[in-house]
This record gives sequence, structure tokens and C-alpha cells, in this order.
Amino acid sequence: MGWADGPLELETDRFILRPLTPRDAGGLLAHFRDPEVTEFMDIEPLRTLGEAQAVVAWADGLLAHGGGIRWGVRSRDGQRLIGTCGFNALELERGRRGELAYDLAVTFWGQGVMSEVLPAVLAFGFERIGLRRIEATVTEGNERSTRLLERLGFTCEGRLRDHAYWKGRFWDQLIYARLAS
Ligand SMILES: CC(C)(COP(=O)(O)OP(=O)(O)OC[C@H]1O[C@@H](n2cnc3c(N)ncnc32)[C@H](O)[C@@H]1OP(=O)(O)O)[C@@H](O)C(=O)NCCC(=O)NCCS
Repeated sequence: MGWADGPLELETDRFILRPLTPRDAGGLLAHFRDPEVTEFMDIEPLRTLGEAQAVVAWADGLLAHGGGIRWGVRSRDGQRLIGTCGFNALELERGRRGELAYDLAVTFWGQGVMSEVLPAVLAFGFERIGLRRIEATVTEGNERSTRLLERLGFTCEGRLRDHAYWKGRFWDQLIYARLAS
């Protein structure tokens, strides 16, 4: 039995997380077409429904092969997708580690949404998947993201020079991690 067997929905006081499905494509397009959301991410703002469907297909494939999971975040009292989060990559053979990723619509920044949601995601990673180490790589300058990780008990382990290449240039990234306590 794998970690993906069994219920995959997560709930917090204010939010519900469900793995992305093809029905989320419209909401994802609205979310990822905002250049402020994708500024520090490895994707260009989305322009078409087809591009959003490709993101859903990627997330579907990830889950189908047990390689990760991406949830859509919704507030309990509304159906609109306000963000996404999850594990982009899992290494379960030569380690027990997962790579955390998250993004939130700009209107919801500064309200503690991810600070509330990510503890449930981390618990899923540590307890359900059995991870020992959860990592996040943050593009230099993404201070909201580094503040969030520090609030969640992550430690900055260093700077990965020219670690990423997108939008026509190389980017230094900071590597953050938290271990299962
Ligand atoms: C990274 C990102 C999710 C952070 O969003 P955020 O709103 O700053 O983070 P949170 O949801 O945890 O909210 C924390 C903020 O809400 C405030 N807040 C309000 N109510 C709060 C509550 N009940 N609990 C905790 N914080 C609360 C905090 O003071 C904090 O604000 P501050 O950082 O200005 O002090 C968001 O900026 C984003 O989506 N960026 C674009 C995508 C991206 O870069 N993703 C990360 C790639 S590594």
C-alpha cells in the first residue's frame, strides 16, 4: 500500500485542500495568469486554458506515479481556487525527502493562509508519506516566501549559485529544510 492510497483531502480551520483535477483548469488559469504570482516561480504567467490543463495533467501524473501531490486551496466558505501547494518531487528510495512548493493569489497575501495550510501539508509529508526531510528552494529576493518558511521552522542551509534557469537567465536559490522532529 502506498502513501497515496486513502483520503487525500486536507482541512484546516479556514481552508480545504483537494488534489487538483481537470475541473480546476479554469481556476488555475485565473490564478497563474497573474505575473505577480509567478514572479519568483519557474513558470511564465499562463495565457490559455490549454496551458492550465497541462499543469493539471502534470499534477495528475505526479500523483498517479506516487511522485508527488499538488492540492488546490479553497476557503471553506467559497469555491474559488485561491492557491495551490504540495510536493513537487519525492525521493523515497535513496532518502526520505520531499520538495515543498506553494503559491497564493495576491488578494490573499498577508492573511496567514499558507501559515495555516502548510502545517497540514507538512504533517501529511512527515506522517503519511514518512518523510524525514522536507526541502524548499526559494529564489533570492522572494522574502515573503523565506519569512513563511522561517515561521514554519525551516532552516536556511545555504545558497545554491545559478541553481535555476528560467525567463532567460540563471537564478541563485536559497535551500531551506525542516526535519521530522
Ligand atoms: C509565498 C507566499 C505564499 C507567502 O504569502 P503570505 O501571505 O506572505 O504568507 P502567509 O499566507 O503565511 O501569510 C503570512 C502573512 O500574513 C500575516 N498574517 C495575518 N494573519 C495571520 C495569521 N492568522 N497567521 C499567520 N500570519 C498572519 C503575517 O503577519 C504575514 O505577513 P508578513 O509576512 O507581512 O508579516 C505568497 O507571497 C505567494 O504566493 N507568492 C507567489 C508564489 C511564490 O513565490 N511561491 C513560493 C515559491 S518558493
